[in-house]
Amino acid sequence: MTNTAQKKTVTLTDNSTGKSYEFPVIQGTVGPDVVDIRNLYADTGLFTFDPGFTSTGSCESKITFIDGDEGVLLYRGYPIEELAEHSDFTEVAYLLLNGELPTAKERSDFDYSMTHHNMLHEQLAYFYRGFRRDAHPMAVMCGVVGALSAFYHDSLDINDPHQRMVASHRLVAKMPTVAAWAYKYSLGQPFIYPRNEMRYAENFLHMMFATPCEPYKVSPILAKAMDRILILHADHEQNASTSTVRLAGSSGANPFACIAAGIASLWGPAHGGANEAVLNMLKAIGSTDRIPEFIRRAKDKNDSFKLMGFGHRVYKNYDPRAKIMERTCHEVLDELGMKSNSLLAIAMELERIALSDDYFIEKKLYPNVDFYSGIIFNAMGIPSSMFTALFALARTVGWISQWNEMMKEETQKIGRPRQLYTGAVKRPFKPLHQRE
Ligand code: CMC
Repeated sequence: MTNTAQKKTVTLTDNSTGKSYEFPVIQGTVGPDVVDIRNLYADTGLFTFDPGFTSTGSCESKITFIDGDEGVLLYRGYPIEELAEHSDFTEVAYLLLNGELPTAKERSDFDYSMTHHNMLHEQLAYFYRGFRRDAHPMAVMCGVVGALSAFYHDSLDINDPHQRMVASHRLVAKMPTVAAWAYKYSLGQPFIYPRNEMRYAENFLHMMFATPCEPYKVSPILAKAMDRILILHADHEQNASTSTVRLAGSSGANPFACIAAGIASLWGPAHGGANEAVLNMLKAIGSTDRIPEFIRRAKDKNDSFKLMGFGHRVYKNYDPRAKIMERTCHEVLDELGMKSNSLLAIAMELERIALSDDYFIEKKLYPNVDFYSGIIFNAMGIPSSMFTALFALARTVGWISQWNEMMKEETQKIGRPRQLYTGAVKRPFKPLHQRE
């Protein structure tokens, strides 16, 4: 539990009554302290008002730490740069779920579980066939992941820690199959089944690009790049989709339904949909000489256009994931012989111009994780409609780790924010003939 040993407090004074109220300040292991206002309403009759939760800690968590001013991201205390360099996605998944890096035995047991839970119930293949072929993969994923709760009844008891872990393993293990099948369905190609001799990212790429007609060899460099991208997206503390998963879970909803809710939240262009939007923006810019025009539009208050892939609610310094993503982007384009990729040239020039522009400097707008990922996916042959689906695939382990953490809390209660009501006061019903 958090440390209150120093007994720091803050005092709130209500000027209308002259009364003062003291609230405890709680310290975490690192990061800003928080004011514990759980008794605020009971003590004062007041709520807080914080749309967008910019100043609100919604939970206590031991999973991920971000220092947005310093550009730091830690999973269970380990810097993202070290994990991206020395670990792999399944090991990071184990770390997020369990709190520690696995021993050799734990790792091989976890690998076994990941490979032996990666198939989908065969009936789900028919479920896919109910969608239109041109359905957005995120629409398919919302539906299929929500439907998993109709297939895996033996892991729905949220009060049983073993069933919670089985559901978590199932979700992480099955998600590459769910995503790859959404793609295959859109192409009208046969579904490719998972292969247990392959590692997680390699298996995913195989299910995406193989056909039954001929052997398909996944490039080790592309598999490594995909694995790193999955690590970079695996968790990011209490962002919109994770908060959605926690809020859905707080009512006691089953884990498959909660992750479906997270996928829905991730879909938006301000969140996971940004990598698709970045690629569309780079294509719309078309050539480096048109960049100033788009920079001008991004700065214009009367224009709704934003530089996609720039800015972040938390990072007010360079997003550490974006740096790794940029390096990965160069590696992938080298491997594919696409060094002179025109979208990369536009992205690099756009970044250079934006980072020396007063508007972006003053507002602390730096490239975020999505700025380069779209170029990588595009070069790999992944269509832009699948970009957010890949984000969802990677983030599933973060969502389910956060859900598990919440479910273990003894004091866990349903999430129920309050509001500042500014609507009509109580008034009598007006019959139709009296309305004008
Ligand atoms: N281009 C131009 N201006 C921007 C941008 C941008 N990309 N981002 C923020 N601003 C401006 C914004 O208009 C505001 O100006 P003002 O103070 O004059 O009103 C100021 O910077 C502060 O921005 P904000 O919208 O209040 O910041 P926020 O924390 O609410 O939003 C954001 C963060 C990520 C939603 C926003 O920066 C954005 O829409 N970026 C583009 C979309 C994007 O790349 N999203 C991916 C986020 S990273 C992946 C993920 O977490 O899912």
